[in-house]
Amino acid sequence: MALNAHPWHELKQSSLHGTGVFAARHIPAGTYIMEYEGKRISAQAADEMEPSDPNDPYHTFFFSLTNGKIIDGGNGGNDSRFINHSCEPNCEGHENAQGTRVYIVALRNIDEGEELLYDYALTIDDEITATLKSQYACLCGAESCRGTMLALPDAEASEDADIEKVSSDECEKKQAKRLRKLKKRMRKLEKKIDRLIDLLDDPKR
Ligand SMILES: C[S@@+](CC[C@H](N)C(=O)[O-])C[C@H]1O[C@@H](n2cnc3c(N)ncnc32)[C@H](O)[C@@H]1O
Ligand SMILES: [Zn+2]
Repeated sequence: MALNAHPWHELKQSSLHGTGVFAARHIPAGTYIMEYEGKRISAQAADEMEPSDPNDPYHTFFFSLTNGKIIDGGNGGNDSRFINHSCEPNCEGHENAQGTRVYIVALRNIDEGEELLYDYALTIDDEITATLKSQYACLCGAESCRGTMLALPDAEASEDADIEKVSSDECEKKQAKRLRKLKKRMRKLEKKIDRLIDLLDDPKR
């Protein structure tokens, strides 16, 4: 069945933030719910763009592709742009094999009426400070909520802490920053490889 023939979702007011996306009926695990649509822009264009809501300057409709491009859901986007974030998500974005399109997929069975949520795991090139975390504060209320919509895996946090310890002067700090960026790129590549392995296992995906 075509993805939009009989939508799995509906838009409603969310208790988390503004408009949210909810299951219109039971959604089985693994369902491709909808595509994340929007204009493709460069990371630089995304950085330079004026906030979509001046009263909420950290509000974002961006979805990052592993090829470095950004999908701007605020321009030519569909309902997927209203999916809110959770640190314990029931959905995630899957890229196609070419890495050019993203589909929102159910991570588990989702009951009718449940809000659809994915982990934004936002990546920002600046050092992750307490201020930055609070600018992207998460209100998901999950037991494992990390308090921010920014990507902050435990492993990454402790690796970064180790790197900081040995960085006693400016030069070493710059090297640590470069190392963090390389690690981030490696993690993205690992994810892409996992997806390609999934595709080889099940080419219909
Ligand atoms: C793509 S929009 C989601 C749709 C949004 N509810 C709306 O009505 O425009 C992303 C923005 O929603 C807000 N948001 C989403 N999930 C959130 C959460 N778990 N905690 C706090 N704010 C959240 C943030 O302002 C974020 O930048
Ligand atoms: Zn959270």
